[in-house]
Amino acid sequence: MFSSQVAVVSILLTLVGAEELVFPPGFKFGAASSAYQIEGAWNVSDKTESIWDRALHTLPWMSTDGTNGDVACDSYHLWQRDIEMAEELGLKFYRFSLSWTRLLPNGFANKISEDGKNYYDNLINGLLEKGIEPLVTIYHWDLPQSLQDLGGWTNPLISDWFEDYARVVYSLYADRVKTWITINEPVAICDTAYSMGTFAPGIIHLESVYLCSKNVLLAHAKAWRVYDEEYKPLYHGKLSICNHWVWFEAHTEDDEEAAELSRQYSVGRYTHAIYSNEGGWPPAIEERLNAYNVLHGYSHPRLPPFTDEEKELVKGTYDYYGFNYYFSLMARRALPGETITPHYVAGIRELGIVMEAYPDLSPTLPPAFYKYPEGLRKHISWIREKYGDLELMIAENGFYSTGKMNDFDRMDYMHDCLEQMLLAITEDGANVTGYSYWSLMDSFEWNESGLKFGLYHVDFNSTERTRSARASADYYKTVIKNHALHSPRP
Ligand code: NOJ
Repeated sequence: MFSSQVAVVSILLTLVGAEELVFPPGFKFGAASSAYQIEGAWNVSDKTESIWDRALHTLPWMSTDGTNGDVACDSYHLWQRDIEMAEELGLKFYRFSLSWTRLLPNGFANKISEDGKNYYDNLINGLLEKGIEPLVTIYHWDLPQSLQDLGGWTNPLISDWFEDYARVVYSLYADRVKTWITINEPVAICDTAYSMGTFAPGIIHLESVYLCSKNVLLAHAKAWRVYDEEYKPLYHGKLSICNHWVWFEAHTEDDEEAAELSRQYSVGRYTHAIYSNEGGWPPAIEERLNAYNVLHGYSHPRLPPFTDEEKELVKGTYDYYGFNYYFSLMARRALPGETITPHYVAGIRELGIVMEAYPDLSPTLPPAFYKYPEGLRKHISWIREKYGDLELMIAENGFYSTGKMNDFDRMDYMHDCLEQMLLAITEDGANVTGYSYWSLMDSFEWNESGLKFGLYHVDFNSTERTRSARASADYYKTVIKNHALHSPRP
């Protein structure tokens, strides 16, 4: 119904010569952040160390400039200003994450921190007072170091520990929080962390990628089922995992198979078990990775198999499909004897695939961020084709710049991605219900702290961490107010 209404409005606008593209009624706009990247206060009160605290304090190669998130945007103290910014923008929702060690200093659910509990209570209540919905990510990469010491995401018991943590979270906040993300970007937690060691815990160990992949899915599923059984009947909220999407375009016509395998590897590996009818790993990936293991003399399959019971546990544990979209890459089959450089998507070496930037796109950007807004629409089609007509939510989309205030490059990219999203809705009939810009303000960008994604500039040299609106904040504010897209250029 929404898309037909949009189509009518768009036709009317075209007839009167207007160039605006209108968003469906009820479409929600938000902005996002995560605990480690903004809160600071890393050891305040009874909060304990997370893996990012440990990694950035002890592994010098982890950061490009030796900085860390000890203070970050100091949102632990400045949360009221954060709410004010969300209000200035006219956001319908604000996405933020909970710090596991701020809430549960032991990592386990036997002790809840009073300060941690109050901090998120204040933030949630403050947002609601301004009519802004809190969208809460339960886990955004900052695992308790105490659990990492027990193997972290490679220990199968972590799915129970995560379930316990999630139950505490629901018991504290489910009466007020109606939209949830269990785990943000499993590909970063498992692949980037364990294939390149550039994300905490900073360990390079390929087997761990796959142990982690399975445990993340089980952890998500257990947390989803607790909510579904114990809290959904009371509060009627929605909960899903959130994936990182890279659209993989085939380098040449002959590389379509390599591109498709890349999509199934990086997105399907964290989607198929939850959203497909049969559950488990994407068959093409399971087959190839296991063949790799046989070839290399292992006695066990590369991807730890799901038991039938586990498949049933994970299957169907969603209320919508959440994803983050930043960029696209080209995929091709490796040439005979070609050395494949390590990549944040671990398995490309095992699959014999090379992933590269588009040759003609934005050469000034670092390789991770090649703009290709069209990849967003293509990916939406792909996911609908594979897994059906799901409700989709863009939980992150963003663009980094070096920090300037007149950030036309950011506005252009935001415009182009929103346009592609609207085409997916109006032309292709996709049910996209929300969009969240990453990020509300400049924040601590993990191992590349120089990158600034914020609608608001943060002065990291001032003890006040002064926040100031960039041009893109004004642009986004107008888009939200008009509920329609216009060009950022005069
Ligand atoms: C996705 C991650 O969720 C977020 O933490 C990160 O800052 C952005 N990508 C930009 O790299």
